[in-house]
Amino acid sequence: MKKGLLLLVCLFPVLTTSAQESNIKSSVQDVEAKVDSLLSIMTLEEKVGQMMQYSGTWDLTGPATGDQNQYREERLKQGLVGSMLNVLSVDATLEAQKLIMENSRIKIPLMFGYDVIHGHRTMFPVPLGETASWDLEAMEETARISALEAAADGVNWTFAPMIDISRDARWGRIMEGAGEDPFLTSRVAEAKIRGYQGDDLSNPASIAATAKHFAGYGFAEAGRDYNTVHVGDNELHNTILPPFKAAAKAGVATFMNAFNDLDGTPATGSKYLQRDILKGDWNWDGFIVSDWGSIAEMRDHGFAEDLTHAAEIAVKAGSDMDMEGGAYETGLVNLVKEGKVDEALIDDAVKRVLRVKFKLGLFEDPYRYSDPEAIKKINFDEHRQVARDVAKKSIVLLKNEKNLLPLVASAKNIVVIGPLADDKDTPIGNWRAQGEANSAVSILEGVRNAVGKNAKVTYAKGADLGMGERSFLKPLKINTTDKSGFKAAVDAAKKADVVILALGEDAFQSGEGRSQVNIGLAGVQQELMQEIYAVNKNIVLVLQNGRPLEITWAAENIPAIVVAWQLGTESGNAIADVLFGKYNPSGKLPVSFPRAVGQEPLYYNQKMTGRPSNPTDVTYSAYTDERNDALYPFGFGLSYTTFEYSDLQLSAEEMESGRNIEVSVKLTNTGSKKGKEVVQLYLRDLVASTTRPIIELKGFELVELEPGASKTVTFNIGTELLEFYNANKEWAAEPGQFEVMVGGNSKDLKTAKFRLK
Ligand code: NOJ
Repeated sequence: MKKGLLLLVCLFPVLTTSAQESNIKSSVQDVEAKVDSLLSIMTLEEKVGQMMQYSGTWDLTGPATGDQNQYREERLKQGLVGSMLNVLSVDATLEAQKLIMENSRIKIPLMFGYDVIHGHRTMFPVPLGETASWDLEAMEETARISALEAAADGVNWTFAPMIDISRDARWGRIMEGAGEDPFLTSRVAEAKIRGYQGDDLSNPASIAATAKHFAGYGFAEAGRDYNTVHVGDNELHNTILPPFKAAAKAGVATFMNAFNDLDGTPATGSKYLQRDILKGDWNWDGFIVSDWGSIAEMRDHGFAEDLTHAAEIAVKAGSDMDMEGGAYETGLVNLVKEGKVDEALIDDAVKRVLRVKFKLGLFEDPYRYSDPEAIKKINFDEHRQVARDVAKKSIVLLKNEKNLLPLVASAKNIVVIGPLADDKDTPIGNWRAQGEANSAVSILEGVRNAVGKNAKVTYAKGADLGMGERSFLKPLKINTTDKSGFKAAVDAAKKADVVILALGEDAFQSGEGRSQVNIGLAGVQQELMQEIYAVNKNIVLVLQNGRPLEITWAAENIPAIVVAWQLGTESGNAIADVLFGKYNPSGKLPVSFPRAVGQEPLYYNQKMTGRPSNPTDVTYSAYTDERNDALYPFGFGLSYTTFEYSDLQLSAEEMESGRNIEVSVKLTNTGSKKGKEVVQLYLRDLVASTTRPIIELKGFELVELEPGASKTVTFNIGTELLEFYNANKEWAAEPGQFEVMVGGNSKDLKTAKFRLK
């Protein structure tokens, strides 16, 4: 036996004996000592192996790299692979893990990563939709359930949450994040990480989470996926990085870097982002996985000559693991041998990977996620209830003229129309993990379940979306002109008391690589809506969408509009809960809805500019053919009751540095139904060493009130809420005047002022 191997046997009895015999404790010092010992006996090849990730072929989420199964199996047997993605099922993960554990010299278990983005088998609303609930507990709960289900399928690592600030509705991946606001996204990031990872990563019901994509990916120029990002330090630190900083602080196990270049440097090759900020300033000790092939893609960026050069750049910049790129595999060992890369950098990366594996408890039991009994213990019915609950909370009521909603008992003759009306697949959304195709409750089914025999429900599709085959990788056609179904739909609408019109986006119309220059209703949907409107104005428009849509005509003409995103497994039932008043809608937009696509990127927390718009002159920052503001602003959403804000008070007019100030406001339910309101706190720093946004979210609270009831909501403003990345390139609160704004959306606000001394 080689010396190294003997040492290993002494330190890690578990590696040669069964899991049951092991009693390794996972305290921090323990983990560090084990990591160091293990590292000390690894060969350079074995170390570099830990920095590699292969994809399985179970569910391809990137361009296939050809059939290399035989070769890869050999690499696994030699223990030269650190993790795999897209390997699904207990059996498959068991098989791959065994290749390592039964054949390799040092038996370092694999991690199995997968994009568990909004549910694993039970599907929850797409992240943008779920964020509209502003319900952090619910978001934590859905992550916990997703982790439980994924873990029972052999997965111990999710590539979520995506916390890219996204302000551009043209960018298809806007559906995958928490919207346009750094404060809200930061809170969502923390909730999701708590949900996936729990208190203890070694709990087999917990999985490692990933904060992605580091950084700037959501700012792709013109909303075109993977496109260049032009962002300066001010925007980077004040807008893009805060959710990542919150994730690092919350103990997220891994980060994923990004495809885009940022101010001239591919994020994957950015030392500034990875070594200086994340691992340096923030002192974060997890590991960074590249995005799919993003190390190799530095050749396409024109930033690396070849794979070896790309590997050199990436490892020096701090990318620890190469996802499906082949660069580390091709170049890293030789780079070290030739002295071009210091082995200390390899050691640092490997330590980071091992640390997470120890924390996951994989050394105690490499098969802990391969328990065939685990899936049988899951109560899927309970998970469906949670899915319905969070789905109804995510629905946003945009318009409700003459209280058309909720639909009352007198609506005896209901017609459900539209390409998405009986679509059981679209609510499952993109990034559906193991969510089964066509398994959601459709709107039609939900409506029928809700009304039973109390009303007549008819259905007419009206038109198809014409998208062709639904698949993650295949392009969509969005060009149908077929109106042959219109007549039946119009005839049905003529006879109805009310029309529920289900329009919006196909499941795969948003998501990765789904950028669009048009964000209106695709195909013939707009025409269908107008023809129905011509015969029956009692229309409730239910939108299913993964991005903000351009719905200006509908906003002007249709009396009731509901945004129902892609709500997951229980979608139709949740929508019916809202339409028939079983649930009083409480969702608020996490992203602005534009008046026209030309406003994009559109976001509420803009800067003032030197020429704020002026309606009497053209030489101001305004469009000549459209208003500047959103059609429906960030934070907006109606209820079946009404809320009034009054008595905005500050505990003082001046705030000492390092002290707090309290803002209170009285919220009254002035309507006739019990309802929930998201009370939102915004701030503005009036004069600062850099220009500052005119308004920024800094707090929120969900409040439920009976009709006539009031509650005083108090927010505590500490100095940290006033801090920003300033002209000296440091986070600081600068003395001066601040405006405080409180209200139910980012536009209708009560204001007060205080001064920071
Ligand atoms: C590429 C995506 O950008 C990333 O978010 C995802 O996790 C990987 N593919 C793996 O599927």
